[in-house]
Amino acid sequence: MKRIGLKLAIAATIATLVSAVPAGAGDSPAVRNCTWCHGANAQGYTVAPRLAGQRPQYTLNQIRSFHDHTRDNPFSRQYMWNAVAALNPDTARDLANYFASIAPKPANDGDSALAAKGKRIFMEGVPEANIVSCYACHGPNGEGIRDIPRLGGLAYFYVKARLEQWNKGYHSTAGSPMPLVASHLGPDEIEALASYLSFVN
Ligand code: HEC
Ligand code: HEC
Repeated sequence: MKRIGLKLAIAATIATLVSAVPAGAGDSPAVRNCTWCHGANAQGYTVAPRLAGQRPQYTLNQIRSFHDHTRDNPFSRQYMWNAVAALNPDTARDLANYFASIAPKPANDGDSALAAKGKRIFMEGVPEANIVSCYACHGPNGEGIRDIPRLGGLAYFYVKARLEQWNKGYHSTAGSPMPLVASHLGPDEIEALASYLSFVN
């Protein structure tokens, strides 16, 4: 009995070691399963957003939402439902922490002529249009806090698509305040916000 118990303990230890993502192991197989879509150093690539520098609790919540099929827009269904289907919770946590530790680079791909307008909405909202300021939750530099995501430097097309999707009835995290927040944003405000955020360092 003792020997079997010991063997099981060793097997469990090996499994943990294999699934763990050591800090700085940018080219481990677990990380590569994500970065072949999310780009070198997880800085984002085409429709796959940057994961570098993202709040780990947020990343983990999103992985759960893809896994439970709560986050259900077309790209999520097409790419992420499969990508996390077999991910175990320990690996998910290690990946979230690892990506959080990488310094994020701004996408810089918005319309710079709209950045000042976007910054104003982000900081002050538009009270007469019921648009709340974003900074109260996302932080003055869009850096995020706890499980509220970092927005600063995310790609223009990604942020624009996310803000539009809530108004099209797609979901992300259960209980999110964003469907209500986004319901007051028109196309001009969305373009300005997404442009501004793409330049935030
Ligand atoms: C086949 C391509 C592909 C692979 C592989 C992939 N992703 Fe994604 N991922 C995407 C796309 C596309 C999106 C954008 C989904 C959307 O628009 O809602 C995304 C979104 C995400 C998000 C949401 C980010 C945010 O800011 O809300 C997280 C977290 C994420 N992926 C984590 C991972 C992890 C962890 C892995 C590896 C286990 C992984 N992805 C593998 C394509 C991929
Ligand atoms: C009451 C707090 C709150 C306010 C105010 C708020 N947000 Fe959010 N936001 C959240 C939370 C929580 C999430 C994560 C849950 C989710 O994705 O649905 C989020 C997610 C997001 C995302 C998704 C990021 C990603 O990586 O996919 C975007 C984009 C966003 N918010 C933009 C904004 C903008 C623009 C404003 C201002 C007009 C704003 N938010 C105001 C709490 C808030």
